[in-house]
Amino acid sequence: MKIICVETEEEMSARAASLIGGLVAEKKDAVLGLATGSTPMGTYALLIRMYLEGRLDFSKVRTVNLDEYVGLDGHHPQSYRAFMEEHFFQHINISLANTYVPNGVAEDIDHECRSYDERLERLGFCDLQLLGIGENGHIGFNEPAGHFTPECHCIELTENTIAVNSRFFDSPEEVPRLALTLGMRGILSARRLLLLAFGKKKAKAIAGACFGPVTPRVPGSVIQLHPDVTVIADREALSMAPQANQPCAPN
Ligand code: GLP
Repeated sequence: MKIICVETEEEMSARAASLIGGLVAEKKDAVLGLATGSTPMGTYALLIRMYLEGRLDFSKVRTVNLDEYVGLDGHHPQSYRAFMEEHFFQHINISLANTYVPNGVAEDIDHECRSYDERLERLGFCDLQLLGIGENGHIGFNEPAGHFTPECHCIELTENTIAVNSRFFDSPEEVPRLALTLGMRGILSARRLLLLAFGKKKAKAIAGACFGPVTPRVPGSVIQLHPDVTVIADREALSMAPQANQPCAPN
């Protein structure tokens, strides 16, 4: 695992955008695994800028998002489909037909999950999976549990996740209780993982995911099983890393 310690959120985003941009420049039809949340927003903004400057072409790129709320259709402003369109897709020359987000209003949720895994396989899996991490260590919406779930599945969100994500809704009651998420096999099937985090709130999750035991109680710890992982995090997010593994030079 390669851990890059940065000073600011801007530097985190710049490093991530340069990695993803480099991949897209090299492989025109790259398959990108994408994430939502506040963490990757700066990265998307920089990729948009690179596109507007004529440095990137997304016309053949395919994208597969990690997760979606159950019960929100793609037009709901808090749906992850809407998030992706607002913060990324509508600003670049990607074909929306090449962008995949689980359908949170599918009539048959189990079928939707199976189809999503099959879709990922048909695309040849992701060249790179971008990840954020929840304060409780979740990746995608794989919440802390007694076991890892390999396949795409429907999950009951924890009270912690509902509380944290309620900042995007008018009230906590409006946060959907269920979500669809890629499972660990889908996430680990990417050829490269890129985990981003900044701020003190992520310190415990990052310490557990990068340096703790691999356990479904800290779902992000599964990344330790992947052979090609880059973590870009700021000093605060890395502040609980064990001394022996401190990737940040002392002040
Ligand atoms: C959300 C998403 C995750 C995201 C995480 C962190 O609930 N399901 O994919 O990585 O929480 O969000 P943020 O980046 O806003 O801290």
